[in-house]
Amino acid sequence: MASFQSLPGFREFYPESLARRNHLFRCWRQSAHAYGFLEYDAPVLESLDLYKAKSGDEIEGQLFSFTDKGGREVALRPEMTPTVCRLVGAKANALKRPIKWFSIVDFFRYERMQKGRGRCFAQFNADIFGEAGPEAEIELIGLLVQCLRGLGLTADDFYVRLSDRNLWFYYLEALGFDADQARGMLGAIDKFERLGDDAFKIYTDAHGELAADTKGRIVEFLGIKTLPQLEAIVGQSDSVELSARLDDWRRVLGGLNAMGLAAFVTVDLGVVRGLAYYTGFVFEAFDRKGDLRALAGGGRYDDLVGKLGGPALPAVGFAIGDMTMELLLEQRGLLPNLVVAPDVYAVIAGAEERLAAFADINLLRAAGYRVDYPLRELGFGKQFKHAAELGARIAIIYGGEELARGVVKLRDMNKREEVEVPRSQMAEAVRDFLSA
Ligand code: HAM
Repeated sequence: MASFQSLPGFREFYPESLARRNHLFRCWRQSAHAYGFLEYDAPVLESLDLYKAKSGDEIEGQLFSFTDKGGREVALRPEMTPTVCRLVGAKANALKRPIKWFSIVDFFRYERMQKGRGRCFAQFNADIFGEAGPEAEIELIGLLVQCLRGLGLTADDFYVRLSDRNLWFYYLEALGFDADQARGMLGAIDKFERLGDDAFKIYTDAHGELAADTKGRIVEFLGIKTLPQLEAIVGQSDSVELSARLDDWRRVLGGLNAMGLAAFVTVDLGVVRGLAYYTGFVFEAFDRKGDLRALAGGGRYDDLVGKLGGPALPAVGFAIGDMTMELLLEQRGLLPNLVVAPDVYAVIAGAEERLAAFADINLLRAAGYRVDYPLRELGFGKQFKHAAELGARIAIIYGGEELARGVVKLRDMNKREEVEVPRSQMAEAVRDFLSA
């Protein structure tokens, strides 16, 4: 027999789990608004070329792609960055700068199944276009931290690891690497945390042996955790670019410190990011315990708008994924039990009373109250039980005798107390009760 299960890696959201996910989205939206970001959206299906070479080999290998009925090579979006670059690039002159945009939508990657990774997941993306200085990084890292704090997480729960591809290139150049070798070495550094010394094999296989001293200098650089350590090591070099870059580091860390966010950010040059387009500062957020994969990742990508046909436009951004985030919140007991309870439950005696109740229910719903009632005739006992199970705060009782007198009974479901009110004043009585 055919089984109609969902595909591996695709989640289904029953109301309770959707309420939890909506809680994340609501908090992220609120944080983005507080930081002055505007929301946008874009197509879920794009031309395959948009991601080929732009996103990097890893993502290209994970694309959900196919040929459509018109013979076009297309792909479900695996990330937002190339798309948002196209959008901004197409109207760059008309948009007020700096352009601060965000979105919360689904993405598709054919990934190996593992904890916190799926094949369809949501990301909160935030990006700033048109700001070349590190002030854009400050604003974005600030927003990233706020998105997590807004959910109740603290500096004991997560941290942002800040790194810099430029710094690496200048450092490797000072050690005698050419551009191609430096890119190869960044590939190895990307794997260093997971593979340890074996990661260097990725480099030596392609570029030949590495002098012991050079390897030592790289491992030392990888061990830097603070700005003074960075200053000390860079101070030993006579590279002008390296010391100029230190000023940018001082600005970013100084700005974040002034925002009161120093406890959330660590210097960590082990982060280089796998995506192909990053050009400067890069960062990733992780849980402090190190149980989970990355919560968020981002960085500067100054060339991508231009490469996709737009004008030269500096850009920085990041994305938070919903899956690892939800795991972390669950671990910390920060996922509220979000019961959506009615304000009012109408308890209805019979067919005639039902019509009177409908008029009032409609009135209350139009006024914005959440109102429920039994779709079929039920005894009073069952109706009250149902109202209690749903968590209704008030029951309004439509009995024949009361209706004949032009009144209804309002029952406080918690206190189990009832009062009679004229039907004409029912809406006011509900309002007063709920706002009390
Ligand atoms: P990314 O590091 O590929 O960056 O993804 C960002 C976050 O999305 C990850 O840290 C993770 O939480 C989540 N994520 C990624 N893949 C999966 C998956 N298969 N299942 C569940 N969650 C996943 C980007 O996508 C960049 N475009 C971010 C960016 C925006 N850079 C600049 N602007």
